[in-house]
Amino acid sequence: MNDIKTTDAASLRSFAGREAACLEEAMRGDLAEVLAGCDPFLAEIIAYALFGGGKRIRPLLAILSARMCGEPDNSVYRLAAAFEYLHVATLIHDDVIDKAAERRGRDSVAQRFGPNAAILAGDWLHARSMHLVGRLAGLDGLEVFCRATGQMVDGEFLQLRYVADCSITEEQYFAIIHRKTAMLIASTCETGALFGGGDGPRRRALAEYGFKLGTAFQVVDDLLDYRGETAATGKRTGNDLAEGKLTLPFIRALANADGPERDLLAGLIIGESGRGRNLPAVSGLIEANGGFTSARRTAEKLVGEAVAALDIFSGHSDRESLAMLHALAGYVLGRNK
Ligand code: IPE
Ligand code: IPE
Ligand code: MG
Ligand code: MG
Repeated sequence: MNDIKTTDAASLRSFAGREAACLEEAMRGDLAEVLAGCDPFLAEIIAYALFGGGKRIRPLLAILSARMCGEPDNSVYRLAAAFEYLHVATLIHDDVIDKAAERRGRDSVAQRFGPNAAILAGDWLHARSMHLVGRLAGLDGLEVFCRATGQMVDGEFLQLRYVADCSITEEQYFAIIHRKTAMLIASTCETGALFGGGDGPRRRALAEYGFKLGTAFQVVDDLLDYRGETAATGKRTGNDLAEGKLTLPFIRALANADGPERDLLAGLIIGESGRGRNLPAVSGLIEANGGFTSARRTAEKLVGEAVAALDIFSGHSDRESLAMLHALAGYVLGRNK
């Protein structure tokens, strides 16, 4: 296990770079087939959305999960493409909902092409994604995929329910992020496992890994929304606060604050127009009340649980894939973008 634990960020980076190149080739091949004859504006938006950066974590998870369960052929890259399509579809729509002008270091699709085009392009990607999953992972794969997509939408609704609502509990926060992010990542791993021919225990272990990793991923995303650098994340810092999304650092700080500071924090998120300007004050109060440190500790714990879910694979013959899943878990904690 030692060599696995010490796998460094550099080997993950070069591995991920190689796999991303194969993924992009698969996406270009797929799009050339399916977009031929379609409206050129649609083709332009899809290319803009898919080839402008992105960490490609979900496709990597699909590929690695398939390899943990079998020896998949090159069609695994099309399956991986399906998960990048779905993810990008959710990002395009999410930026309409969150009124986010920046994504992946440039204009969001909605900002560049307008909300109507963004909604339609997201729908197209979603449909293509379902087509590929059905073809490559069968009805079982489609079922996993559709359940997770439905839960993502449900999570977004739950999130809307608690906009700027200081009575939101930690349980409600986790219910939101489990649905909107973690279950999709779990379904990516599970579908990859299914595609690789994994049995029940392997599928469940990889789904559990994805679920814990995905939860940690969103907690870290929520931390980066306060403390990240736009130059690295490629999206505007402070957008969650501006949109009235109360995330774990805020919720923890609110719980720790004494009466006057609690009132102050609660007061700073009232009023849609001024919220964004209160970012420095809100950040200061979160920091002073341990919200960032405590959310970070939760992400660390979740990543530990993700790695523990892989225990059933110890001694697995594909040591590289197992090492990369471990390294990805470390990456999720350390990432700045
Ligand atoms: C952003 O996902 C959406 C969340 C679930 C937080 P990523 O941070 O993986 O976005 P890209 O693909 O790298 O742009
Ligand atoms: C993303 O949540 C969840 C999705 C369903 C896409 P966020 O709203 O935090 O994602 P970012 O920060 O815009 O990437
Ligand atoms: Mg958003
Ligand atoms: Mg975010």
